[in-house]
Amino acid sequence: MSYAIIGFGKIGQALAHAFARKNLDVTVASRRPPEALAPQARAIGPTVVAKSLREALEADTIILAVPFGEHREVAKALPSWKGKTIIDAMNALLPPEELDGLPSSAFVAKAFTDAKLVKGFNHLIAATLAADPIVEGGHRVVFLSGDDEDAIAPVMALAKQLGFAPVKLGKLNEGGALVHARGRVWGQLIFQDLFKKEQ
Ligand SMILES: NC(=O)c1ccc[n+]([C@@H]2O[C@H](COP(=O)([O-])OP(=O)(O)OC[C@H]3O[C@@H](n4cnc5c(N)ncnc54)[C@H](OP(=O)(O)O)[C@@H]3O)[C@@H](O)[C@H]2O)c1
Repeated sequence: MSYAIIGFGKIGQALAHAFARKNLDVTVASRRPPEALAPQARAIGPTVVAKSLREALEADTIILAVPFGEHREVAKALPSWKGKTIIDAMNALLPPEELDGLPSSAFVAKAFTDAKLVKGFNHLIAATLAADPIVEGGHRVVFLSGDDEDAIAPVMALAKQLGFAPVKLGKLNEGGALVHARGRVWGQLIFQDLFKKEQ
């Protein structure tokens, strides 16, 4: 598996720390050229490498950590997303009518035609997500949801590799609703910083 984080702000950097902590290779990119991101990437760790957006999108698993409204711009960067897994770490506090009445991640999935989409790593504030997920032998919980069961398993494996305890919530409009904003209301599991003894 190859991994890229698109968006190198608070959440993108928090996730880059998680990859660096486990010596896992990850590419990071934003609208700025890689030279602009490189010093911060290097400061996080040697496995975090800044590339252009186009090069970063060669990864097979792509974590979206851009402001919600920007996902459409990222989606335009490739003619086809077939074979790619998108991990949606974004949140959208938008009225349902602006999302065609869909959970925000289902709305995102429409822009990334033919990709597999998993929502995850979105429910904690960046500073918490950046911290070591193993505390006193317990593993910080992340919630994963998606309409494609097959896509969730490799993201579960990634979350475990990063030291988190992934919990599968099911489909986006079922268990996944607990980690979505609906209008101006956060899902009940958002901001819940939970730990499990076993991964
Ligand atoms: N902050 C949190 O605690 C938190 C918690 C959970 C979820 N989230 C979600 O995570 C996402 C990112 O939030 P953030 O707080 O990390 O935002 P941020 O600090 O403003 O970072 C956003 C990043 O996205 C990049 N970017 C913007 N438009 C882009 C585009 N079209 N293509 C590529 N890169 C683009 C920006 O870099 P350039 O300007 O260089 O392009 C920047 O690196 C949001 O959807 C937010 O809802 C945030």
